[in-house]
Amino acid sequence: MSADRQQLPREQWGTDTGFILATIGSAVGIGNIWRFSYVAGENGGGAFLIVYGLSVLLVGLPIVIGELALGRRGAADAVVAFAKDAPRSAWRYAGWVSVLGCVLILSFYAVVAGWALKYFLGAVSGALWQAAGAGYGGYFREFIADPVAPLFWQCVMLALTVFVVAGGVRAGIEVANRVLMPLLAFCVIVLAIYSATLPGSAKGWQFLLSPDWDSILTGQVVVAAIGQAFFSLGIGMAVFITYAGYLAPETRIPRAAVAIAAGDTLFALIAGLAIFPAVFAFGMNPAAGPELAFITLPQIFLAMPYGHIFGIAFFGLLSAAALTSMMSLLEVPVASVLHRSRITRRRAAILMGVAAFVLGIPSALSFGVLSDVRISGDGVFDFINRAVSNYLLPLGGILVCLYVGWFLRRADAVSAAGLSGGVTGVIWYWLVRLVAPVMVFLVILDTVGEL
Ligand code: TRP
Repeated sequence: MSADRQQLPREQWGTDTGFILATIGSAVGIGNIWRFSYVAGENGGGAFLIVYGLSVLLVGLPIVIGELALGRRGAADAVVAFAKDAPRSAWRYAGWVSVLGCVLILSFYAVVAGWALKYFLGAVSGALWQAAGAGYGGYFREFIADPVAPLFWQCVMLALTVFVVAGGVRAGIEVANRVLMPLLAFCVIVLAIYSATLPGSAKGWQFLLSPDWDSILTGQVVVAAIGQAFFSLGIGMAVFITYAGYLAPETRIPRAAVAIAAGDTLFALIAGLAIFPAVFAFGMNPAAGPELAFITLPQIFLAMPYGHIFGIAFFGLLSAAALTSMMSLLEVPVASVLHRSRITRRRAAILMGVAAFVLGIPSALSFGVLSDVRISGDGVFDFINRAVSNYLLPLGGILVCLYVGWFLRRADAVSAAGLSGGVTGVIWYWLVRLVAPVMVFLVILDTVGEL
């Protein structure tokens, strides 16, 4: 810990509920709606779901608990948490990996968030519905290829995020999540119910819920499931370490972790139940990939009864979910900078927001002006998206496992997690020490082998 660290009064969550809503807000994002639906669609629906559930339980949940435990021990930020027990060891860089990683994720995440916001406002104003013309394929591709528009919307989403984070942990992040998360839950449930009333929707339920056993245990499905679990829970980049740094001492970590994992998975499922029945009811392709949300769905909204309202709700949901996730991604670097300089929170938030914007410019332009720039075959956006899920998050996850499972003394780790004694503590310890890192390592190897 550096000596010049400012002795600010430590910020804290107002209530337990506020903390849990904020962590679920971080987990529930574009990943649950846009990414989950296309990854599940491409990997066989129900089959994917089972492997996904196991990934969350055996790999995701133990790491969430590990991050929360590290955060509580450090009681500050990502960098402090990893440097706490051995200030001079190489562990002190692990926190900085997360800090930089968060800015990188934020940079391309804000681009998709910007698309969602543009669609939302277009659905509200009606512009989106008039634009259908020759279908949304052309509309979407023209928009993301524009040299200015994607940058503008990306900037608006980042500005909103900076505004909230500048307000502080309790008055900014906690308040925003308290308002947005219940709204989000309500919205997605209503959408799923309405979707179920569409003629032909049963095929969508079947697709999502009944497994095709043949495609279950292929390496590709397992890799996709673990990658999705990392991204969707938002682990490996010190988000939960940072959020748990503001915990009141009496908050129970295992309970919070279960709420996060269950809330995130349930949300993805319900979002899937809003999307796939509609996709099948209109005879569209469930495996359309990343274009599903921005090309296939608007087409469906246009054709179905009350579709405009459905569209407004859906893209509003997507934008709001993105915003609460962006808050956590911004808070990680903000907290770390804030604790090591005399800068104000507001300035730190603006500074990091600008950094994410500048870093995100190539991603935002990678479907237009910069579409010729290729990194190992991908455009900039696709490359970063893939590199983050396949390498950066797994690497961050392994670091958490190694620190908690091998570097800390067992008794310290288990008690930091609030699990002392009992069989749950033993199970968690071996999951985080052995099962999770080995699984993640295999996934990385598999991905490297594919290159
Ligand atoms: N979990 C969010 C989603 O599903 C994205 C996210 C927020 C994230 N914080 C993160 C991803 C930290 C990786 C790491 O959209």
